[in-house]
Amino acid sequence: MPVSQEDRIALSEAETFQDHDRPHAIFSQFRAEEPVAWCEEPWDGPGFWSITKYDDIQEISKLPKVFSSDAKHGGITLPSPAMIAKRSHLTRKEVESPSELSQFEGGRSMISMDPPEHVQHRRMVAPGFTPHTLDSLAPRIRERASAILDSIKDQNSCEFVASVAAELPIQMLAELFNLPQEDRHKLFKWSNLIIGGDDPDVTISREHVMAAFMELGGYAMQLYQDRQKNPGNDLITMLVNTEVDGEPMNVADYLSAFVLLVVAGNETTRNSISGGTLALSQHPAERQKLVDDPSLIPKAVDEIIRWVHPVIYMRRTALEDYELRGVKIKTGDKLALWYMSGNRDEEKWDDPFTFNVSRDGPRHLSFGYGQHLCIGWRLAELQLSVVLEEMLARYPDIHVTGEVTRMRTNFLNSIKTMPVSYSAST
Ligand code: HEM
Repeated sequence: MPVSQEDRIALSEAETFQDHDRPHAIFSQFRAEEPVAWCEEPWDGPGFWSITKYDDIQEISKLPKVFSSDAKHGGITLPSPAMIAKRSHLTRKEVESPSELSQFEGGRSMISMDPPEHVQHRRMVAPGFTPHTLDSLAPRIRERASAILDSIKDQNSCEFVASVAAELPIQMLAELFNLPQEDRHKLFKWSNLIIGGDDPDVTISREHVMAAFMELGGYAMQLYQDRQKNPGNDLITMLVNTEVDGEPMNVADYLSAFVLLVVAGNETTRNSISGGTLALSQHPAERQKLVDDPSLIPKAVDEIIRWVHPVIYMRRTALEDYELRGVKIKTGDKLALWYMSGNRDEEKWDDPFTFNVSRDGPRHLSFGYGQHLCIGWRLAELQLSVVLEEMLARYPDIHVTGEVTRMRTNFLNSIKTMPVSYSAST
């Protein structure tokens, strides 16, 4: 039976993803019957191709010259800038050019650039993410994770997202940026606001969004000026020193790069920590395996990130005609690479809908693939694995006790709040 029109349209709607059963059911049907599927949009968008098989997502991700991420072709999200603007209380001009919110010309970051430009931007921050840099960060990640987990020990329940999952990624980001730790909550607030355009709890009003964007722009510019005078070996200094075609990166691009790192470095890692803790709570036998044998944690990290798919999809735009599985994709067509679906591809994993912390199998797609493969993947994995080690050693029975609230978005799998209970290990 073909996937219904209603289900195709539902993939554009944030509320469809509030509960994952429905999108998973739609994607399973697509993978089985129509792996390259045309989907109409509920607004007056042109529609897009849903790419749901693991191999196809990899094939497209390897061809950045054919399938563009560039903002000038539409960037990395399905809705047009006009649509995002409407939903986030901003005007179209303000969304297309964040400069309207500050005094700068509109900029782009590496995630919405194609090669060769992409390579120049990525290269400048790459030293911040090498295995060597991470080795030097590892002891501090452990110190911070331990302190965060110790801070909840005198109670036997807490709201996990604010108390634990959000804390480590923003503390580490503040460290990578070399910011005073007390500023980290601002990063948290701004990042929620940027991705929460579909969530009425987050984008309360136009004034609220504008004020936060202005604050973010001002803060980032202060840092820019400071690092010009006082360079260090932090990510902000790397951005300030980025040269593109021999010229310093312009201020607008700097601003976009700052925003990208704030969002990418914190939302996704937070959601893998909270989503992983939820999955372990829903599968206590799997949690017990890790308590009994912590050497399984590296495998569990892979399984959690496959299972949670913190990024649900990324968009590409075809720059030439291309045939995939006999389907003709035309120049200018939009495509959604549904990582959420590729990670459940029955041809790649046995029982992909079973959460199994000792699973073997191919690399999941949650960090993307190819040209734009997540630059922060090692950092994210390290944080998740340290949190799991320290958390399960202290609170082996940690479990979710009530309603889990989710951000309204079809782009990120984001948990807003999650109550947990635990008893300290004896
Ligand atoms: C579990 C955590 C994370 C997940 C699931 C994740 C996911 C992703 C995905 C899917 C992409 C590919 C985008 C595309 O193909 O268009 C990406 C790119 C990126 N991520 Fe991550 N990410 C995570 C953590 C991080 C961290 C910790 C940082 C930095 C501190 C980071 C920074 C970036 C950047 C800068 C890019 C753009 C890379 C490029 O365009 O070349 N991410 N991430």
